[in-house]
Amino acid sequence: YPLRAHNTFGFDARARWFCRIESPAQLTAALRDERVAACPHLLLGGGSNVVLTRDFEGVVLHVALAGKRLVREDDDAWYVEAAAGENWHDFVAWTLANGFPGLENLALIPGTVGAAPIQNIGAYGIEMAERFDSLRALELATGETVELDAAQCRFGYRDSFFKREGRDRFAITSVTFRLPKAWAPRADYADVARALESSSAGASPQAIFDAVVAVRRAKLPDPATLGNAGSFFKNPVVDAATFEALHAREPQIVSYAQPDGRVKLAAGWLIDRCGWKGRVMGAAAVHERQALVLVNRGGATGAQVLALAQAIQRDVRDRFGVQLEPEPVVV
Ligand code: FAD
Ligand code: EPU
Repeated sequence: YPLRAHNTFGFDARARWFCRIESPAQLTAALRDERVAACPHLLLGGGSNVVLTRDFEGVVLHVALAGKRLVREDDDAWYVEAAAGENWHDFVAWTLANGFPGLENLALIPGTVGAAPIQNIGAYGIEMAERFDSLRALELATGETVELDAAQCRFGYRDSFFKREGRDRFAITSVTFRLPKAWAPRADYADVARALESSSAGASPQAIFDAVVAVRRAKLPDPATLGNAGSFFKNPVVDAATFEALHAREPQIVSYAQPDGRVKLAAGWLIDRCGWKGRVMGAAAVHERQALVLVNRGGATGAQVLALAQAIQRDVRDRFGVQLEPEPVVV
């Protein structure tokens, strides 16, 4: 089964089987099927955070569960649930249209609601974990439904239980968000603050949504026209002493102090400084406006993009002594 239309890099990989899941009952039935049980499983939502390096000798479970609703509210918050196959951006727009703000900074992130907890999506001053209440998932091995809270999901920066011990073990079927009624704007991110200055609506949820959409459109390539998976590496976090030494050598280095005293470095700046921005390696390339984004210029394979990634990692390690770690899930 061709997966080209099911990964935003547009890699031409294939799967042995492909199964579109539209209801929890279908998922249970699929897992009971002998052919499905006998081979490896790959859960796929929008395919916007995977690197398919070769054909997948197993079954792709394409999560297309639909539905979103207000589950309950109390004095402090609204609790909104969405099924895993809902498009993330459409869901964010729906929450705002219904008067439940809080997710506006995460507008225009590609993919599905069900994948949002996997790497704890984040952008423009907020991470999903701050708005997360709980999720429901099906354990693939047992077919049992589990409900997990934030502590059990072990969210970190672009990280969760599902990228570690829980990897490939659960199908997330729905996610519930807690959206506080006491809303306050998150508009510290310089790009967003700048875009808001030209808005007459002040810092309303809709104005922030619009500002984030505008910033993202200006900076990030649209996978519909240029294959990519967003940031290819995580921003590395180093200890204070390492940062001081780097900063002494490279006063322009872009960094963000962390609450624990460590320092997060802008990987895009490190890659840019090594001269990689806009560079082409066969059909793979480094995006010309954002060095952290690797792109498929047409016909590239996952292996070619990984080779480019390794060349970048080597240069960044040689120049700065910093190891870059891929952000998407390599399959
Ligand atoms: P997929 O790529 O389909 O899957 C990703 C991983 O999650 C895989 O391991 C898959 O097996 C697993 N998975 C998917 N669905 C389920 C499920 N229901 N149950 C269990 N496991 C599942 N990310 C950010 O955090 N911030 C950004 O600002 C951002 N910007 C981006 C910009 C662009 C242009 C692109 C292409 C990507 C960007 N991303 C960003 C990455 C991506 O959008 C997110 O990681 C998104 O959550 C992936 O959703 P998906 O449905 O496409 O996941
Ligand atoms: N920079 C450069 N050159 C570049 C790219 C960036 O000098 O080629 C500098 C920028 O000037 C800026 C800094 O690096 O000072 C940070 O760049 P940017 O604001 O574009 O953000 P980022 O750190 O590259 C992160 C996330 C994005 C998220 C944005 C906005 C990671 C790995 N990436 O990118 O998430 O949208 O911040 O919050 O944390 C994703 O995860 O796929 C993703 C796109």
